[in-house]
Amino acid sequence: MERLDGVRVLLGVSGGIAAYKAGIVARLLVGAGASVDTVLTRGAERFVGTATFEGLTGRPVRTEVWEDIATQTHVGLGRSADVALIYPATAHVMAKLAGGLADDLLTTTLLAATCPLVLAPAMHTEMWQHAATRHNAEVLRQRGAHLVGPDDGVLMGGDSGPGRVVDPQVAVDAVVAALEDRAATPDGQVSGSFAGRTAGVDRDLEGTRVLVTAGGTREPIDPVRFLGNRSSGKMGFALAEVAASRGADVVLVAAPSTLPTPAGVQRVDVTTALEMYHAVFAHIDAMDVVVKAAAVADFRPSSTATSKLKKDAGAPSIELVPNPDILAELGARRDGGADRPILVGFAAETDDVEAAGLAKLKRKGADLLVVNDVSANDAGFEVDTNRAILLDRDGGRVEVPLSSKAEVAGVVLDAVVARLRA
Ligand code: CTP
Repeated sequence: MERLDGVRVLLGVSGGIAAYKAGIVARLLVGAGASVDTVLTRGAERFVGTATFEGLTGRPVRTEVWEDIATQTHVGLGRSADVALIYPATAHVMAKLAGGLADDLLTTTLLAATCPLVLAPAMHTEMWQHAATRHNAEVLRQRGAHLVGPDDGVLMGGDSGPGRVVDPQVAVDAVVAALEDRAATPDGQVSGSFAGRTAGVDRDLEGTRVLVTAGGTREPIDPVRFLGNRSSGKMGFALAEVAASRGADVVLVAAPSTLPTPAGVQRVDVTTALEMYHAVFAHIDAMDVVVKAAAVADFRPSSTATSKLKKDAGAPSIELVPNPDILAELGARRDGGADRPILVGFAAETDDVEAAGLAKLKRKGADLLVVNDVSANDAGFEVDTNRAILLDRDGGRVEVPLSSKAEVAGVVLDAVVARLRA
C-alpha cells in the first residue's frame, strides 16, 4: 500500500518561478497513491500550463472561479480534499490566506476547506524577511497551517538566500506528516487544520521568540581546508523543529549542514564562529530565548591563505587566535540582573562530565546547560539519539535517558517554558 492511497490532495500552484517544480510534486503525489486536484492561479498559468497537470494527475485542472457556477467548484473542491498543499506559496497568496481574501479559485476553495493545509513558501529573501510576510506566516501557523521551508539557496536571477522552495519530496513528506498529525489527535478533531480547529499539540511556546544555533562552525585555513568539528546539527535542528511545532517564532542560525530547514523556521546560514557571532547579535534584541546547541570553534587561524597551500612548501604552521565566546558574552550582557533572554547552553564533555558542566554553566552565565557525554557512541555527535543531564542555575537537575533528539529537545523546552512562567 502506498503512503497516500485513497487520499484526495488539493494541489494549489501559485505564481512563482518555482511553479515549474509543482509538476514533480504532482507526479510524486500520484505515485504515492493520491488523487490530485490541481488549481492554478493566474500567475501560475504564466509559468506553467494546465495541460502539464492534467497529464500528470489524469484529472481536470481548474483555474477559474467563474466557470460552472452552478456546480460551485470551489465548495466541492474544498470539501472533498483530505489535505491541501500550496506549492509554491507566494508572498501574495500567503497574505491573501492570512487575511481571508477570496478573489480567485484557489483562495475561495481554501476558504471553503477544513482540511489540513501545507504551505511551501517561495520568494526572494527580502520578501520572506519582510515584516508583513513574517506576520502572515505567523498568522497562518497559529491558525494551524503547516509551513515547510523555505530553504536557503539559489533564487531566480542568481541571487541566493532564504526563500527557495523546498524540494518536491520534502513537500510530499510534509503532506504525509500533516495527515499523520490529524490522525494522531485523540478526539478525532482535525489538528493543524487551516480552519483553525483545536491544535493537537501543546502550543506552550506561542508568541515566544526563540533563537537556536546549530551545527559545527568551520574556520578556513585556505580555499579548500578548514578547522571543523563533528557536530552534525541534528540536536539544534530538532530543537528548532520542536520549538516551532509548539508555537515559537524560531530563527535557526545554522553552521554548514545538509539537514532540511524545519517547517516554519527562519534559517540563517553561517560558516564561521565570527559569522555566527554577528548573526546571533543581529537578532538578539528581539529574542525571549537563546539555545546555543552549536559547536563553536574556540580558535580560528589568524589568517586565511588566499591560494591553496601546497604540500611541497612543507608542513604549514598555523597560528590560532581566539574566537569570541558567544554564550559567555550573552551571559555577561545580562549581568545587570536582566532575566531575558533565557540562555540555554550545551556542553560536550568526555571527563568528569557533570562537574565540568556545572562549572561551565556558572562560567558562561547561562540559565540551563545540557551536558552530553560525547565519549559514548549512541549519544552526542552525528547520531539520532542523545543522553543528557540538564542542569539549572538554581540547582535543578534532570537526567534524560537515551532518547531521540526530538525527545531531548522536548525536555529542554519544558524547562524553558517553566522558566518563562516563573
Ligand atoms: N560556545 C559559544 N561560543 C564559543 C564556544 C562555545 O557560544 N566560542 C557555546 C556553545 O554553543 C555551547 C557552550 O558554549 O552552548 C559550551 O560549548 P563548549 O565547546 O562545550 O565550551 P567551551 O567554552 O568551548 O569549553 P571547552 O571547549 O574548554 O570545554
